[in-house]
Amino acid sequence: MRTHYCGAVNADHIGQIVTLCGWASRRRDHGGVIFIDLRDREGTVQVVIDPDTPEAFAVAEDTRPEFVLKVVGKVRPRPAGTENPNLPTGMVEVLTQTLEVLNPSLTPPFQIDDDNINENIRLQYRYLDLRRAPMQKNLRLRYRVSKLMRDYLDQHGFMEVETPMLTRSTPEGARDYLVPSRVHDGLFYALPQSPQLFKQLLMVAGFDRYFQITKCFRDEDLRADRQPEFTQVDLETSFMGEEEIMVLVEGMIRDMFQKAQGIDLPNPFPRMAYAEAMGRYGSDKPDLRVTLEITELTEVMKAVDFKVFSGPANAVGGRVAALRVPKGGEFSRGEIDAWTEFVKIYGARGLAWIKVNEKAKGRDGLQSPIVKNLHDAALAEILSRSGAEDGDILFFGADRAKVVNDALGALRLKIGHEKGYLDGRAWAPLWVVDFPMFEFNEDEHRWDALHHPFTAPKDGHEDYLATNPGAALSKAYDMVLNGWEVGGGSVRIHKEAVQEKVFAALNIGAAERREKFGFLLDALQYGAPPHGGLAFGLDRLVTLMAGAESIRDVIAFPKTQRAACLMTNAPNAVDEKQLRELHIRLRQKAAEPS
Ligand code: AMO
Ligand code: AMP
Repeated sequence: MRTHYCGAVNADHIGQIVTLCGWASRRRDHGGVIFIDLRDREGTVQVVIDPDTPEAFAVAEDTRPEFVLKVVGKVRPRPAGTENPNLPTGMVEVLTQTLEVLNPSLTPPFQIDDDNINENIRLQYRYLDLRRAPMQKNLRLRYRVSKLMRDYLDQHGFMEVETPMLTRSTPEGARDYLVPSRVHDGLFYALPQSPQLFKQLLMVAGFDRYFQITKCFRDEDLRADRQPEFTQVDLETSFMGEEEIMVLVEGMIRDMFQKAQGIDLPNPFPRMAYAEAMGRYGSDKPDLRVTLEITELTEVMKAVDFKVFSGPANAVGGRVAALRVPKGGEFSRGEIDAWTEFVKIYGARGLAWIKVNEKAKGRDGLQSPIVKNLHDAALAEILSRSGAEDGDILFFGADRAKVVNDALGALRLKIGHEKGYLDGRAWAPLWVVDFPMFEFNEDEHRWDALHHPFTAPKDGHEDYLATNPGAALSKAYDMVLNGWEVGGGSVRIHKEAVQEKVFAALNIGAAERREKFGFLLDALQYGAPPHGGLAFGLDRLVTLMAGAESIRDVIAFPKTQRAACLMTNAPNAVDEKQLRELHIRLRQKAAEPS
């Protein structure tokens, strides 16, 4: 139908007759001459319709935005002074000979070149939103990123294997999406939260290096970096330790950034232990571009006569810490009040602060609602540990460690980004290592797996599984980029006895183990090789690379924060007959003696 893409027409084509197909993006009437910007996925080109071609001119007069057009015309240089060097097609225009409307369009709900459109309208008319240049660019980048990673893995001996979508629950810490079975009354499949167990079984099967670019499904609370269905670049290897796996996948990310966008990431990526990340940044995915740091003060506050601090300092699992903001003495009361409100989102009950006006004057040089409550030795420790200088401000958190970390960690990012405490780097990758095996679930009073229950304990930590679960570290690693967790993985347990110990630590009883994970426990006894791997969140990687605000902007048809698709109106009520059948079966199931 056409000879060239609109966006590919350039000075090399001057004098040629071209046939173009595309969408009318803008039409301008210039006293007798009509200009149409004709757009396709490669870009736009200026089409000129002259009254000398009366039939084409009549069509052009009736053309409206987003009409689909076919243009036959001659490429010519733009008149001197009207060139647009910013556009690849900006030196030329196409003088129309014939113009045909292939399909008209209703008036679109927004202009395609508008970049300030309500997101709900964009999601409702996603097929129009996707015509916009930034969205076209994002999806191209996404394709390129996944192609580059696929190529890299292929070159390194990885083979793609598909794993089931209708399966048993694979626990990754979220709720499952369930699918009722028609042939098995009252039974359900779960959509996979990840291919975790299948990829481990592929290692038992001897495939040695597996990967898959695949959808995962998690019914969890959504945020800017989370979707209920998202894509993992998932991989697993046999006979490789943590070090080898990290080097291999780090190489893949470096290669991909370089080839996709010409970005050189550091080699190697720095590494940081989980405990250090939590201590200094209040987060296991610290944004190292932000220069602010948190100071540990729990020990120091044990003996102060100020309940707000001494309470958490002496409580099991409590923490007292301070965020130092250099030159923050200038912050206004209004700003401090706003931040005090902000940390409440994370459960903090207040945000004590000290402005360091003049250190040399001791307590008289400090301005604060709380100095009167702290003895001299404590004040001296606060200043020396935090390294505070005259003109600085310190913000305090005192609570359960999780609350303090979440609150001060979030405040660090907020003040860091809003007030410009940044080191100037565009990209700050980091490996976080030495994760604990378990974290204590305060609400349910039990240990939860910090990664997933198939993660191997560090050498020498196996005995802690039974004696002191909180002290057991794992062979897990997360890749963090600019404060986002872009990937995570671990060396796995490949011995049945160790897997049983982890299930025991998680308080999963023998019957439940058998019922849920019997197939895995069996497989581990048929010559399972040592194995490990990792999964990247493709959506998150592309979001960061595209400089987008939300992962919705790099997914063709995403869901809203409330897990709905505004275009198709999913989720939707099902056929009444279907629903009745499901109800009957569930009722029958419930009535069966257990
Ligand atoms: P994990 O749960 O850490 O590990 O997931 C791996 C990566 O997937 C991305 N991710 C998400 N992206 C968008 N929306 C979500 N809801 C979402 N949840 C996770 C993150 C994360 O780093 N089976 C293990 C991997 C392994 O051990 O090999 C797993 O799924 O970028
Ligand atoms: P109060 O003694 O309750 O008046 O609190 C004195 C100061 O401590 C105020 O600035 C509060 O914002 C702050 N504060 C109260 N509770 C906490 C807490 N758990 N962590 C940090 N600061 C707190």
